[in-house]
Amino acid sequence: MSLTTLARLLAVAVSLSATLPACANLQPQYNGSYPAPTNTDASSFSKTKFDFVVVGGGTAGLVLAYRLSANPKVSVGVIEAGQYRPDDPFIGTPTAGNLLGNADIGTLLGNPTYDWMFQSVPQTALNGLVIDYPRGKVVGGSSAINSMIWQRASDVDYDNWNTVFGNGAGWSAKGMQSYFKRVESWTEPELLFPGQKRVPALATEHGTNGPISVSYDTFLFDVEAPSVAAANAIGIPTNSNPDGGNETYIALTARSVDPKTAVRSYAGNAYYQPVIGRPNLKLLSQAVVSKINFSKGGKSGIVATGVNYIVDGKTYTVSVGKEVILAAGSLKTPQILELSGVGNKTILSNLGIPVVLDFPQIGENLQDHPVTLLDFKVKPGVLTLDRLNYNKTYANEQEALYNNSASGALTYTEAVIGPLPLQATVNSSTFNSMYKNLTTTLAKRKQTPIQKAQYAALESMVKGGEVGWFELTVVPSGGVASTAVNGSNYLTSVAIELHPFGRGYVHINSTDPNAQPVIDPKFLEIPWDAEVLVHGSQWIRKWMHTEPIAGLLDGDNVPGSNVQTDAQWDAYIRTAVRTTNHPLGTTAMASRALGGVVDPNLKIYGLANVRVVDAGIIPMTIGVAIQSTVYAMAEKAADLVKKSYGI
Ligand SMILES: Cc1cc2nc3c(=O)[nH]c(=O)nc-3n(C[C@H](O)[C@H](O)[C@H](O)COP(=O)(O)OP(=O)(O)OC[C@H]3O[C@@H](n4cnc5c(N)ncnc54)[C@H](O)[C@@H]3O)c2cc1C
Ligand SMILES: *[C@@H]1O[C@H](CO)[C@@H](O)[C@H](O)[C@H]1NC(C)=O
Ligand SMILES: *[C@@H]1O[C@H](CO)[C@@H](O)[C@H](O)[C@H]1NC(C)=O
Ligand SMILES: *[C@@H]1O[C@H](CO)[C@@H](O)[C@H](O)[C@H]1NC(C)=O
Ligand SMILES: *[C@@H]1O[C@H](CO)[C@@H](O)[C@H](O)[C@H]1NC(C)=O
Ligand SMILES: *[C@@H]1O[C@H](CO)[C@@H](O)[C@H](O)[C@H]1NC(C)=O
Ligand SMILES: *[C@@H]1O[C@H](CO)[C@@H](O)[C@H](O)[C@H]1NC(C)=O
Ligand SMILES: *[C@@H]1O[C@H](CO)[C@@H](O)[C@H](O)[C@H]1NC(C)=O
Ligand SMILES: *[C@@H]1O[C@H](CO)[C@@H](O)[C@H](O)[C@H]1NC(C)=O
Ligand SMILES: *[C@@H]1O[C@H](CO)[C@@H](O)[C@H](O)[C@H]1NC(C)=O
Ligand SMILES: *[C@@H]1O[C@H](CO)[C@@H](O)[C@H](O)[C@H]1NC(C)=O
Repeated sequence: MSLTTLARLLAVAVSLSATLPACANLQPQYNGSYPAPTNTDASSFSKTKFDFVVVGGGTAGLVLAYRLSANPKVSVGVIEAGQYRPDDPFIGTPTAGNLLGNADIGTLLGNPTYDWMFQSVPQTALNGLVIDYPRGKVVGGSSAINSMIWQRASDVDYDNWNTVFGNGAGWSAKGMQSYFKRVESWTEPELLFPGQKRVPALATEHGTNGPISVSYDTFLFDVEAPSVAAANAIGIPTNSNPDGGNETYIALTARSVDPKTAVRSYAGNAYYQPVIGRPNLKLLSQAVVSKINFSKGGKSGIVATGVNYIVDGKTYTVSVGKEVILAAGSLKTPQILELSGVGNKTILSNLGIPVVLDFPQIGENLQDHPVTLLDFKVKPGVLTLDRLNYNKTYANEQEALYNNSASGALTYTEAVIGPLPLQATVNSSTFNSMYKNLTTTLAKRKQTPIQKAQYAALESMVKGGEVGWFELTVVPSGGVASTAVNGSNYLTSVAIELHPFGRGYVHINSTDPNAQPVIDPKFLEIPWDAEVLVHGSQWIRKWMHTEPIAGLLDGDNVPGSNVQTDAQWDAYIRTAVRTTNHPLGTTAMASRALGGVVDPNLKIYGLANVRVVDAGIIPMTIGVAIQSTVYAMAEKAADLVKKSYGI
């Protein structure tokens, strides 16, 4: 997507704000300018004694705030670094963000009003390439800036939390199911993909009374259905019920968008805005948490007594009645713990931070889904998102449709998504050779206990050949893998690696709470991870050369058809890797023996009253995008907290 498209979408988005419905019954109301006021200020917040202080008003944090403050006797304070931006059309309009989460090109992404704009350290296996790491910095967190894709993983991914990581049956596909439903107000799809059947099970998997609106695209461009039909033609079936415990194969994927208004549904407008008037819930925005205060030596052990936060350069402390709940996300929660003296003692001592608890696993075990991109030219006249860029008549038509009937191109989110088993893309001799190399690589590496457990589980999953290993998607536009030529149409397809073996870390490198932590996802450090993406990319090219999609395309664009051999693909992907924005695992929920950071109640081992509830607790990558899992985990966490205090 070019800058002009974005500038234009921005203009559309701004003009749309006037048409969005005003929210009734809110105290205080959004007064027409950003940042909007919340219901407290730095000084009065610090004087309130809260039962629970939630650090981070993002995806998980606001679920906790909403559920715990439903009891008027329980007081909850939320501290969020970003602004409160209710009804912000940049957040709300589906196409106003961007489709791939590339920090170079977004209006939300790469914009400091919404995005922390982190970057990885240069990646050794990618010839020093630096990976952009967007993260939401606004009330709603990353759910305000994400691509809205709404997926549930195959059962095995959640069952592993019980069987592999020792968290008990409550953390399993069955144990989580009611929480997935509790989040959702689901509406069934109107459109269907080739090969898709209306199955009653699709509805029974979903909830209908939850805060987040879950729906499906009602507008598709010209390339989605032919892409699905082409996949069907080469042996990849359509999955009519991807959320029923088996994610595998291509599906019309749900999204977190309100079907009536075509506005993004996210933690900010679903879990905070409706309850802003609760007197026992206070949300302080534009406040950066710098440290947790602990008291040591009493009979309860190490007890969090307060939380420090910075507003306009001034540090305040709020005291904590019962608990601190860390929900600052997988890249920021470890930083706050380390700044507070909880972490690897060598790292802390080197920075002069007094060690409260030596806990070297904090910030380790970072995992993510690496992705590579390919784009193809699309024939003139075939409709893609690109047309919004170069055809003003079309753009105006679509704006009017969005304005007047919440329909048209501006409502679009990525729809074609398919996790495929590796065996669907390589023959058995290639698979066996790859697998043999993998076991050789792993045998040579020193593995931590959690890595041993993870690798054993992954090996058995990949050999079984039944769960998704790489995910294909279709983005109906250019400007992502390469710069789009004005007036031309493109299709970008990506291969996402769902279960990589690489393990990275996030740690502080400074005592400044505003400094970004050092992030090293170690993408493609294990040769197998590169091989999976090579074969995934090759498969995507084969797919795009299959009818009926092939007939709509004008050939390979990036990489060009000169890239053919495995070695050429390997060289290409090492220039093209990015993140799918699913970093997790940095405060893993796992048994102590495995080196877990939080227990099955999400409490940090060794601390009396600190829980973590964010993507950092997910102990291993799952085979889908993770937001619905984060919401469901947070719903379950709210029940665990309520149960432990009988509230
Ligand atoms: C660009 C992008 C695209 C994505 N696309 C999808 C998708 O399409 N589908 C999907 O399922 N998932 C997607 N994801 C992933 C998903 O959105 C995230 O994994 C999920 O929202 C993370 O939730 P969280 O609660 O762990 O953290 P967050 O939602 O990021 O919340 C953390 C909050 O803590 C705040 N915070 C951090 N540090 C401090 C501090 N020191 N003081 C005060 N506040 C602090 C942050 O500002 C933020 O609001 C995407 C993510 C991104 C970034
Ligand atoms: C809205 O509220 C903010 C903060 O309270 C204030 O600075 C601003 O002037 C108000 N804007 C309008 C239009 O009233
Ligand atoms: C919390 O920590 C800060 C910073 O170290 C300190 O100034 C403050 O006095 C502490 N507050 C309490 C209540 O311990
Ligand atoms: C702690 O950090 C140091 C310095 O980075 C590192 O050498 C050491 O391996 C870490 N300890 C553990 C147990 O990970
Ligand atoms: C793209 O082409 C259209 C139509 O020819 C033109 O109006 C527009 O200004 C061009 N945009 C850029 C960025 O060149
Ligand atoms: C531009 O859009 C209008 C309205 O949709 C359409 O009639 C026209 O054919 C389009 N022109 C081009 C060059 O795409
Ligand atoms: C959409 O609505 C806004 C606000 O009313 C208006 O300014 C804009 O011109 C509308 N766009 C179209 C194409 O109707
Ligand atoms: C398997 O695939 C590889 C790579 O495409 C090819 O070179 C090889 O000949 C194939 N082997 C068999 C037995 O089909
Ligand atoms: C396995 O490793 C050998 C030796 O490094 C290499 O030649 C071969 O290509 C690898 N096989 C696969 C499938 O990657
Ligand atoms: C998922 O469904 C596909 C297609 O029916 C099947 O091949 C695969 O074995 C199933 N996977 C699991 C884990 O049940
Ligand atoms: C960590 O901080 C030191 C001192 O500021 C700096 O020299 C070094 O480059 C930093 N390392 C990383 C990976 O950012």
